[in-house]
Amino acid sequence: MLNIVISGAPGSGKGTQSDIIVEHYGLYHISTGDMLRAEIKAGTTNGKIAESLIADGKLVPDEMMIAMLRDTVVAHTDAKGFIFDGFPRTVAQAEALDEMLGKIGTSVTCMLCMEVEHDLLVERLLNRGKTSGRADDNLETIQKRLDVFNAQTMPVIDYYKKSNRCHTASNNTTVDECFAQVKRIIDSTL
Ligand code: AP5
Ligand code: MG
Repeated sequence: MLNIVISGAPGSGKGTQSDIIVEHYGLYHISTGDMLRAEIKAGTTNGKIAESLIADGKLVPDEMMIAMLRDTVVAHTDAKGFIFDGFPRTVAQAEALDEMLGKIGTSVTCMLCMEVEHDLLVERLLNRGKTSGRADDNLETIQKRLDVFNAQTMPVIDYYKKSNRCHTASNNTTVDECFAQVKRIIDSTL
């Protein structure tokens, strides 16, 4: 299986690049943010827990996220591989991912770390906020999401660096130029 973790600050282009990766490599896309927004829309218990946390830029609890992810992975073991978009966001989630993939005889092939300059990130998110309807696309919550990323998710990047699986792609560029870098990285692991 080809299993890719795509990480990076809010608005760094994880979703945009995941869509192209899916088209190109036929992987199964798991976006934990999209999963949570679907739960909120459906009014489930998990959705009710997640709603105010997301609007406040905070992470939902690890146990809930790990359980949701495990169910999705187990339901798609016939996939060619997965692209994990927005997961893991804590070291506990990274350890749980290693364990759950180990149980189905596979592992994380590589992490793509998307990098975008701060001002460009904020500009892109505010721009998206005009039409996205996302409760977290406003200046106050964007700043909180960036703080949470730096405090809780940067250690995950170090976690993958330790096993030489972290590769950086700059997205201070066009979508296509970014994908050219992403493709080079993925192809080098095949
Ligand atoms: P999530 O939905 O994952 O949000 P995020 O990480 O903040 O990232 P975004 O989805 O906002 O941005 P993106 O990196 O996908 O960028 P995009 O491609 O859209 O999570 C939301 C919340 O859910 C979290 O805050 C947390 O509360 C909760 N959550 C989710 N997962 C969790 C987990 N594992 N544990 C705990 N809690 C969790 O691009 C952004 C914009 O830029 C778009 O408009 C796009 O069109 C544009 N764009 C992209 N690339 C370019 C380019 N090259 N040129 C011009 N425009 C571009
Ligand atoms: Mg996204």
